[in-house]
Parts: sequence; C-alpha cells; structure tokens
Amino acid sequence: MNTWPRPLWIAHRGGGAAAPENTLAAIRTGAAAGFRMVEFDVMLSRDGVPLLIHDETLERTTDGAGLVCEHDSAALQRLDAGSWHGPAFAGERLPALEQALDLLLALDLDANIEIKPARGFEQATGETAARLIAARWPAERRPPLLSSFDFPALDAARRVAPQLPRGLLFEEVPEDWRAQMQAHDAISLHCDHSRLSADRLRDIVAAGVPLLCYTVNDAARAEALIAAGVRGLFTDRLDLLT
Ligand code: G3P
Ligand code: MG
Repeated sequence: MNTWPRPLWIAHRGGGAAAPENTLAAIRTGAAAGFRMVEFDVMLSRDGVPLLIHDETLERTTDGAGLVCEHDSAALQRLDAGSWHGPAFAGERLPALEQALDLLLALDLDANIEIKPARGFEQATGETAARLIAARWPAERRPPLLSSFDFPALDAARRVAPQLPRGLLFEEVPEDWRAQMQAHDAISLHCDHSRLSADRLRDIVAAGVPLLCYTVNDAARAEALIAAGVRGLFTDRLDLLT
C-alpha cells in the first residue's frame, strides 16, 4: 500500500520524454497526462538566479553554448530550450525556479525539486533555492520535497529553511544510509532502481523510510517496486501512469 502522503508516480524532469525536460511546457505536459507530482533540476545562473536545467553545460538542451554558471539569467532565458526536442516546442524558455513554483501552485502539483549545483556553487545553490521556495510557498500547502546528490547543498538548504523536507539522492544506497539520513536530517531516500539490491530495498521499506526510485520506464519493474513498498517512481514514460 502506498502510505506516503505524496503521489506514487512522479514525472521525471517535468514531463518525462513527452516534452523538453525542465521546462514549463514539460510540467504542463506531466500535469495534462494526469501526474500530480513532478521532479525537476535546479541550478544557478552566474548572477545567482535558480533556473531549471539538468546539465552544467547548455549544448544538449538549449541552442546556447558553454557553462550555465558563466551566463546571466537574462541571457539564459532568451535561449531556446525546446527545439532540441521537436518543432512543437520551439521557443520554449529555460524557466526560473520562481516561474516553476508559480506553475506548480496554479496546477496544484506536488514536486520534488532536485538541487543540482554546478561544481563550486554547492552551498549557494542550496541556500538560494531553499530561500526562494520557503518565501514563495504558502504555509497551508505541503512543501516541495528537496533532494540532491550533493549533501553540502542539502545542508545549506536546511540551514536557511529547515522546515522544507529533504531526501538523500544516491545512485546506489550505501550500507550506512541510516547514519547518513540522520546526519543530514533527511526524510526520504532516492536512488537508481537498477542499482538497488532486493536486500537493501527490504531493509529501507521495513524501516518505514520512504524510498523513491529513478528512472523507472518499464511497467513490470514498476509493478515489482510498488509491490515491494517503494513510495515514489520517477518516470520518463507518462503512459505508465496507472
Ligand atoms: O531525482 C531523481 C533523478 O532525476 C536523478 O537523476 O540525473 O535525472 O537528475 P537525474
Ligand atoms: Mg533530476
């Protein structure tokens, strides 16, 4: 049974494979497909504005070039972040976190906001994103779940907004996951399902810790993880939603 107070299915990078990742169009696409929760990645521009993007470099998902952290937000937001996916999304912009938060609120969506700091900007990214979310999110709404592979970034978020829940993001959950959760005051574990052993999964579920798995694009694997007690599935396959 899914007792986690958040939705089980999470649209990865906003709208999975159905839209250009980490855009407002992606979040709208995820919501239109029936998802009640989305995940997206947040990084800082040179002038310290948190924006939605996965890579430290611009080439894969925009028509820009170079490092995200070497450009100001105004220039980044003039880039085309949609054409790489297809002509239907031409001109889609790289959104600021603030715009994404407004859209989440308008669509009444839950979210996992992954703090994705560029190297050297770990603390600044965690602090800036958490401050903005805390300032903008209404007290009566369940706050977004923060996560990161970068624990100093999560610790920085915790210092400025301890009320925002945090999850530890791993490729493979290590043996000392309990101690690490305690050290960083985290409420959930997020990991790559393909590197999750049956024993580790069982221990985490038995401990009552919400376990969220990325990126689950296979229906049979999803069913097995749900049956085993996994509480969140990040997917690129919007058609898997049941
Ligand atoms: O947060 C889950 C998942 O998004 C982590 O991997 O590389 O897609 O951000 P990545
Ligand atoms: Mg991510």
